[in-house]
Amino acid sequence: MLVIGIESSCDETAAAVVRDKKEILSSVIASQIDTHKAFGGVVPEVASRIHVENISGVIQQAIDEAGISMEDVDAVAVTAGPGLVGCLHVGVQGAKTLAAVWNKPLIPVHHLAGHIYANELVTDLQFPLVALVVSGGNSELVYMKDENSFEILGQTQDDAIGEAYDKVARVMGLGYPGGPVIDKLAQQGKAVYDLPEPKTQGRYDFSFSGLKSGVLQFIKRCERKGQTFTQEDLAASFQKAALDEVFDRVKLVLEDHPEVKQFVVGGGVSANSGLRARVDELRQEYPDKTFTVPPMRCCTDNAAMIAVAGEIAAEQGRVADARLTADPGWEI
Ligand code: KG4
Repeated sequence: MLVIGIESSCDETAAAVVRDKKEILSSVIASQIDTHKAFGGVVPEVASRIHVENISGVIQQAIDEAGISMEDVDAVAVTAGPGLVGCLHVGVQGAKTLAAVWNKPLIPVHHLAGHIYANELVTDLQFPLVALVVSGGNSELVYMKDENSFEILGQTQDDAIGEAYDKVARVMGLGYPGGPVIDKLAQQGKAVYDLPEPKTQGRYDFSFSGLKSGVLQFIKRCERKGQTFTQEDLAASFQKAALDEVFDRVKLVLEDHPEVKQFVVGGGVSANSGLRARVDELRQEYPDKTFTVPPMRCCTDNAAMIAVAGEIAAEQGRVADARLTADPGWEI
């Protein structure tokens, strides 16, 4: 199947053409990071306006770079939620128009499903499976009994992990987005500072806001007492604390669900070097299971993952009609 995917749930306008869930013929991403940098985070109203300016050009570029005609396309897949409502509407409107003009099936895709199915680009997913979705808007552990069946086992009770990276980077004066900068600094430092451990209720739930405040309090305490610290060691300490929390929960899930065949990661934070090293450790620890991380270029928001998830949804007949609308609170 040849699927064109469209993604606009946050601050990336993206379109991609993917063949048979594996071959990316094109993947165009117009990032708005430089605009939002000035504000230290994504400004929803500004983001939706930029999507409006970019959407047609991005779709056209994806078709041109794939070297195909819309006549060859079997389905149009689009992120219909969750996300920023104004942003989602732009992608959904674009996809509806494309599907209507070319008389193609229109496939709504859940953003989280997209992040999970980014792994299908490099492997055939095996079920039951556990997925860790870690991004600027999500921190979830998801159990998939089968294709397109999602059960949330645990989730963040406050900030998402990517959000915590971005906020910690802001208090450390490192700019936006914080994840890649902290990741780089952490590789040059040592985790020598004590930061607070999370307090959560559910067995598999996360909490990152205490850790984020812990970093701020640590900096203030050092300033008050005239103590010095290094950015590298603070970044390493934060990253270790955040990943300890994540992988404590992951191990609990794997111990509680021995039937699980595969563990996958998705979302922007899956680009993190420390996280990838922890996945390598799990691979050694559980040789009977498969551990997969998405290709680097498909970790942060992109439309190739939406095309892949769209093909699976299309196989199951999950087709929408012209009444499709963005659903910012879509529960998976
Ligand atoms: O998946 P994504 O593009 O958007 C959402 O759906 O939220 O993820 C963006 C998030 C940002 O918070 C960014 O700081 C984080 O992913 N991120 C990273 C890294 N690269 C991106 N976090 C930690 N380490 C990285 N290398």
